[in-house]
Amino acid sequence: MGKDVIVACDFASAEQTFAFLDKFTGRKPFVKIGMELYYAEGPAIVKEIKARGHKIFLDLKLHDIPNTVKKAMAVLRNLDVDITNLHAAGTKNMMRAALEGLTREDGTRPLLIAVTQLTSTDQQSMEDDLLIREPIDKVVMHYAKCAEEAGLDGIVCSPLEAGKVHDLCGKDFLTITPGVRFADGDVGDQKRVMTPAQAKEIGSDYIVVGRPITAAADPVAAYNRCVEEFCD
Ligand code: C5P
Repeated sequence: MGKDVIVACDFASAEQTFAFLDKFTGRKPFVKIGMELYYAEGPAIVKEIKARGHKIFLDLKLHDIPNTVKKAMAVLRNLDVDITNLHAAGTKNMMRAALEGLTREDGTRPLLIAVTQLTSTDQQSMEDDLLIREPIDKVVMHYAKCAEEAGLDGIVCSPLEAGKVHDLCGKDFLTITPGVRFADGDVGDQKRVMTPAQAKEIGSDYIVVGRPITAAADPVAAYNRCVEEFCD
């Protein structure tokens, strides 16, 4: 796996999701299922999208005591997703427990990726609310290193940080990067953005693209443009 475009299917229902996915009659996109869709439709939505032949990134961002996360991951492993994730803030013990839970009896498992600091957390809120006084980019790199030491496969980060993460954790440590926009497109509420071509250049392994594809007049053309810029 590697170098692929993941489409964030941020829809509220299975009906809307399938109406969107039905448009893709050629290459089947790698799909990200987030909390909204998963909590609305349950595990069935994951199985249905998988049965249609899509790879799946299940973005549920687990964060709890190690034993609870281990048991939750042991349930998720049966959904046969390709990538899932958790919060690095749960500590290395939690991340190790998650890996144990996620690993099937035959030794296989989905890739496990850590969220470091959410992009909605800025320096001020991190200091005021979390009492973390270090510069945020240092905190993100520290969380990345902890994830690597715990045995995880990579992190979610801004495409602007992908190069630095590879320098610190090795080129095989995966960077999954949202915040991608076309050079001539709307930025929306994303602040630090890159084009698919720039994300490729800097070494992102996967880009996560939502509205530039889901809200496009022609989603299939927008997806194909991402693939051409990022994968080819
Ligand atoms: O529509 P857009 O391309 O902005 O969607 C980006 C997707 O990536 C959304 O599902 C969003 O929740 C997710 N994401 C993000 N920034 C992060 C982590 C996840 O935009 N730091």
